[in-house]
Amino acid sequence: MLEGKRILLGVTGGIAAYKSVEIVSRLRKSGAEVDVVMTDSATEFVSPLTFRSISARPVYTKMFTEPKTWDIEHISLAQRADAVLVAPATANILAKMALGIADDFLSTVLLAVNAPILLAPAMNHAMYHHPATQKNLEILKGRRVHFIGPDQGFQACGTEGDGRMSEPAEIIAYLEGLFENKGIMKGQKVLVTAGGTREPLDPVRYIGNFSSGKMGYAVAQAFAEAGAQVTLVSAPADLSVPTGVKVLRVITAEDMYREVLKIYEEQDIVIKAAAVADYRPAILNKQKMKKKGESLILELVPNPDILAALGKGKRHQFLVGFAAETENILKNGLGKMKKKNTDMLVVNDVTASGAGFGTDTNIVSFLFKDGKRKDLPIMSKHQIARQMVQEIAILQNGAGTKE
Ligand code: CTP
Repeated sequence: MLEGKRILLGVTGGIAAYKSVEIVSRLRKSGAEVDVVMTDSATEFVSPLTFRSISARPVYTKMFTEPKTWDIEHISLAQRADAVLVAPATANILAKMALGIADDFLSTVLLAVNAPILLAPAMNHAMYHHPATQKNLEILKGRRVHFIGPDQGFQACGTEGDGRMSEPAEIIAYLEGLFENKGIMKGQKVLVTAGGTREPLDPVRYIGNFSSGKMGYAVAQAFAEAGAQVTLVSAPADLSVPTGVKVLRVITAEDMYREVLKIYEEQDIVIKAAAVADYRPAILNKQKMKKKGESLILELVPNPDILAALGKGKRHQFLVGFAAETENILKNGLGKMKKKNTDMLVVNDVTASGAGFGTDTNIVSFLFKDGKRKDLPIMSKHQIARQMVQEIAILQNGAGTKE
């Protein structure tokens, strides 16, 4: 995917800068040419010589040093990039980009770029959650700047939280996605549902499930990368909304049912990745239920089956369901596809290692209406999502299933 591509890598001043050396190495192994631009602070963490050695190209740090080529470097670098990655991206560079400040080499190049930009933020989690940083993220997402991470975990400052730069392999996979399916879903309206619905019992409790929303968010991202106009109807999920995706937030299955049906008619493709609760408590207590010391029996009533309703009312839409199974995977999957009248079903065994809820990887099979089936090996949820985009694009062009 990255063979022959010119990637401009901006490195800003965070301890995660050392991981960017691995990014350059991986990019070069994939056949990409990498131009590295470092801010002054970045050079305090890693020497330009390290990046020069690994990229086998000059490293740019200062605005007014003797140019390495005959042309105006910040403009030519910006123009020749197929994609720009800033990793790590500090709170400072986010703020400068949001405001259009160009007071050093990197921020000046970033103002002149037309290629897609991917930022991998890394900072202390309090800085990440500061309203100023969050506002800047919002502004940049509105300009279709892409983001990956930050991830949760232990931080160099000794605290735990979100703020760690994503791992180099994940960053590279995202970059590949920017090229892989470029434009193949242009003009398509796509609705994706994600997350696990919550069915309240009282003001403080709910019945929920283990869905993290990762698969559905990856699907929304993959379609957006491929140029579709994506609406994500999301049940609670602790994930950031992918660039260019419109989100409608819901809590319960009934909320999701209402929101999805409202916009179903105008969609070309609908992907139901959400884990929808089949039942909800019959009574929603207005006050917190008090414990009584004896066993408690809850009465549950069925929720609407959203996918089945969509299948029933299907006209021009291409409808995709997911099936989370723990046994008889394919048999149950085929049964669901038929019963819910979907064009495609993604089945997975949620008990297999490397698959199911909360993991970054999954092991799935695609089942198609014409009886064809495609088994995928273990891969990241992002890779699976991109494969889905490709399969659906092929089916829509009438070319049959890609093997
Ligand atoms: N689904 C839905 N509405 C529901 C239940 C499920 O739209 N009330 C959708 C899911 O989003 C998924 C598909 O139906 O795309 C299959 O969901 P799954 O939980 O695997 O199956 P169920 O139909 O709920 O059947 P069971 O729980 O008996 O396996």
